[in-house]
Amino acid sequence: MKKLIGFSLFLGILSFWWSRESDREDSETCTTPYVYLSDQSRSQIDQLQDGYDPRRFPIEALHYLSAGNEKILFSWDALVDISNKTELGIYHMDRFNVNQVVLMKKNLHYLSTVPGNMPTVLQVSSILSTIDDFFRGETPYIANYEAYHLTPSDFKFTAPSPHTNSTPRYRYFKEGSLLEQPHLSHYDLRFYYNRIEPIDRLAILHRIARSWFRFTNRLELRTWISHGTLLGYYFNGLVMPWDDDLDVQVTALSFEKLKEYNGTVLIDYDDGFNPGKYLIDINPWYGVRSKESDNKIDARFIDVDSGLYIDITTLSHDYIDRGAFDDGGLTEMYKVFNPGFDQIMTETDKYLKEVEEKFNQSMKDEGLVFCKDYHVYNVDELTPLIPTVFEGEVGYVPGNIQNLLLREYKRKSLYLYEYKGFIFDKIKRMWTHKSIKYEYNDLMSKFIRHHESLRQSTIKRRTFNTSTLIRFDSFRVEPWIRKKYQPAYKQGI
Ligand SMILES: *[C@@H]1O[C@H](CO)[C@@H](O)[C@H](O)[C@H]1NC(C)=O
Ligand SMILES: *[C@@H]1O[C@H](CO)[C@@H](O)[C@H](O)[C@H]1NC(C)=O
Ligand SMILES: *[C@@H]1O[C@H](CO)[C@@H](O)[C@H](O)[C@H]1NC(C)=O
Ligand SMILES: *[C@@H]1O[C@H](CO)[C@@H](O)[C@H](O)[C@H]1NC(C)=O
Repeated sequence: MKKLIGFSLFLGILSFWWSRESDREDSETCTTPYVYLSDQSRSQIDQLQDGYDPRRFPIEALHYLSAGNEKILFSWDALVDISNKTELGIYHMDRFNVNQVVLMKKNLHYLSTVPGNMPTVLQVSSILSTIDDFFRGETPYIANYEAYHLTPSDFKFTAPSPHTNSTPRYRYFKEGSLLEQPHLSHYDLRFYYNRIEPIDRLAILHRIARSWFRFTNRLELRTWISHGTLLGYYFNGLVMPWDDDLDVQVTALSFEKLKEYNGTVLIDYDDGFNPGKYLIDINPWYGVRSKESDNKIDARFIDVDSGLYIDITTLSHDYIDRGAFDDGGLTEMYKVFNPGFDQIMTETDKYLKEVEEKFNQSMKDEGLVFCKDYHVYNVDELTPLIPTVFEGEVGYVPGNIQNLLLREYKRKSLYLYEYKGFIFDKIKRMWTHKSIKYEYNDLMSKFIRHHESLRQSTIKRRTFNTSTLIRFDSFRVEPWIRKKYQPAYKQGI
C-alpha cells in the first residue's frame, strides 16, 4: 500500500513536470524547482536516489578525495603523448592535493586536513554525525552588501612573485581539448566524468556561480563577472546558453587572499538540496604577468562532480610589454582611451603615437590594469563594483558595464537577438532554441523580471538599492534529478 501511494506521488510529480512539454513547438522544458515542491514530493525525490543523501556529502567528499584517482579517466600516458605536440609544451598531470575542506552553510566552517593524512571515513563521520548537527547553534552570517570602491593599490600584489619569467613552465590547467577532443574543451581533465548536455550544463553553471558568489561575498573579495558572463548579465541576468564556462575577474589584492585557499575543497550547503563540491586551484605562475596563452588563467573554481569551472583572472598593473600593441592590441588600447570608438583603424602610425602617450601616462598614474591575456581596463571604469543579482544570487558587476561590453563585443552584440541558432525571446527575455532543450519555469521568469528592473539601475545609473538585492532560490533542476525522471518519462509512464 505504502508503495502504491509513493508510486502515484511519483506519477503526480512527473506529469506536472513534463505535461506541458508536448504542447510546445520549441524545446522548452517546464521544470519545477525543487524548492517549489511540497515536502512530501521532495522526500519522494530523495528516495528515488539510490541512497542519495545530501547530508552525507562531506564524508563522501573526503572519502572520494582520499580514495584517490578512481574518477580520473585520462591516464598519465595519454598526457605524455600530448607533450609530443610542441605547441602545447610539456604537460604534467598533477594529482590534486587537498589542504583543507571548507563547509559553507550561511557561514563558513573550516575543516583542515593534511594531504596524505586524510581522516578516514569513520573518523569524519564521528565528528560530523549530520550536517545539521555540525551547523547547529551557529549564528548565520548576514551579508551586508555595499559597493566597493577600487583604487590603483587594489591592483598591486603585496608579496613578490614566487616565480620569474625564466621559471620553466607548462600549461597548468588542463582541459579535454588537450586530448584532441574539442567537445571536451571546457572540462577539467581531472574531474571529467561524462559529457553533459546543454540544459544540464546550465544547471551546473548556475550552481557554480551561486556558490562562488556566496563564498567570495563571505570573504569580501573584490571579484566581478566579466567577458561572456557579463554579456549574459546584460541580457537577462543568466548565463548565455552557448557558454561553456563562467568568467570572473579579481583584483591582485583579493587574489592574494584567494590564494590562501589553494587546494581547498569547498562544500556548499546553501542551495539546500543540491550541495556542490568545488576545488580551488591556483596557477603557480600567476606571478609571471607576461602574455602566455597556456597560463593566462590565474585560478579556477572547479566543480569536482562535473569538471565544469569558473575561469578566474587577476587584474594588476605589474607588467605589460610592447606586444600588447601588436595585432588587435593597438585598436583595443585605443578604445580604452576612447570608449565610443567603433571603427576600423586605418592610419596606424598616427594612432600609435597617441595611444603610446596616453598609455605611458596611465602607466605612470597606475590607472591601467591588465590580465595575462592583455585585456586592458581603466580602474575608473571598473570602480565602483556594484552588487546586483546574477542567476538569482548576489554578485558584483563592474561600474561601467556598457563601456566594457562595447569594447569587447562591439555595439551590435548589445542588440543581438539571434546567435548560433538561439533566438532571444523578447517577451520571456530568454534565449530559446528550436532543437536544444532549455529550462523555463515560474521562479526563473520571476527572477528575469526582477533582473530587468535591476539592470536599469546598474547599467544606467551605476548604482544599486539594497532593497532590490533579493536572493532567489535555485531555479534550475540538477542533472541527477532530470536523469532520474527522464528515462521513466520516455518509457511512457
Ligand atoms: C613522440 O612521438 C614519437 C613518434 O610518434 C614517439 O616515438 C615518441 O615515443 C613520442 N614521445 C613521447 C614522449 O610520447
Ligand atoms: C596550488 O596547489 C597546487 C596543488 O597542490 C600546486 O601545484 C600549486 O603550485 C599551488 N599554487 C600556488 C600558487 O602555490
Ligand atoms: C612611452 O614609453 C616608452 C618606454 O618608456 C618609450 O620608449 C616611448 O618612446 C614612449 N612613447 C611616447 C609616445 O611617449
Ligand atoms: C529602493 O527601492 C525601494 C523599493 O523599490 C523604494 O521604495 C526606495 O525608494 C528605493 N530607494 C532609493 C534610494 O531609491
